[in-house]
Amino acid sequence: MSAAYDESRVRVINHPMVQHKLSILRDEKTTTKDFRQLVHELALFEGYEATSDLELKDVEINTPLETCTCKQIAKNIVVVPILRAGLGMADGILELIPNAHVGHVGMYRDPKTHEPRQYYCKLPNDIADSTCLVVDPMLATGGSATAAIHFLREAGAKDIRMLFLVSAPEGLQAVLEYDPKVQVYTCAVDRQLNDNAYILPGLGDAGDRIYGTK
Ligand code: PRP
Ligand code: URA
Repeated sequence: MSAAYDESRVRVINHPMVQHKLSILRDEKTTTKDFRQLVHELALFEGYEATSDLELKDVEINTPLETCTCKQIAKNIVVVPILRAGLGMADGILELIPNAHVGHVGMYRDPKTHEPRQYYCKLPNDIADSTCLVVDPMLATGGSATAAIHFLREAGAKDIRMLFLVSAPEGLQAVLEYDPKVQVYTCAVDRQLNDNAYILPGLGDAGDRIYGTK
């Protein structure tokens, strides 16, 4: 039976440009160079959607002609890539939000147990008052994502938004049940996991495809 999750907390980015790029990303013939570029572009589009409801504050701006009241983003933004594949998305988000701070959560899945193993974590000091955009191309079992959420909550993060490119229903269920407040953004919800906890149809190993390590 397929995993059940609260669809109201999952925003699937169905924009035609996103779906077109995602189809090329999935293609086994796509080169490392193109794969990396597509991850960057998709993250930028997704970041745009995931920031559409950010709080704004009034600021006084002197134009060359007069002073006017304008709007600017009220809170700092912290991009948190889950290493290593998340780094490919962080670059895209930073193109959209160049003054965002960056936190790193280093995690890899144990190939046998599929459990996440943490190896490096470093967050900016302003994490508690910031909007956190956690980025990782793949949400499979949800082990890495829930460990990242745990780490961020312990550090005081309140506004956590999870951005994936491809998600499995099993991972969505795990993340949404683990944390009642996080909002999830994804470009696709795929069918299921295989026996090795890889997403079907998926796109293979995102880290290996971004960095050409296979
Ligand atoms: C991949 C992916 C996620 C994780 C998803 O990373 O980028 O972080 O697996 O699987 P999960 O939902 O079952 O935890 P991986 O562990 O392969 O590390 P890498 O980014 O260094 O390649
Ligand atoms: N990690 C990946 O990179 N791909 C999957 O399908 C699952 C986990």
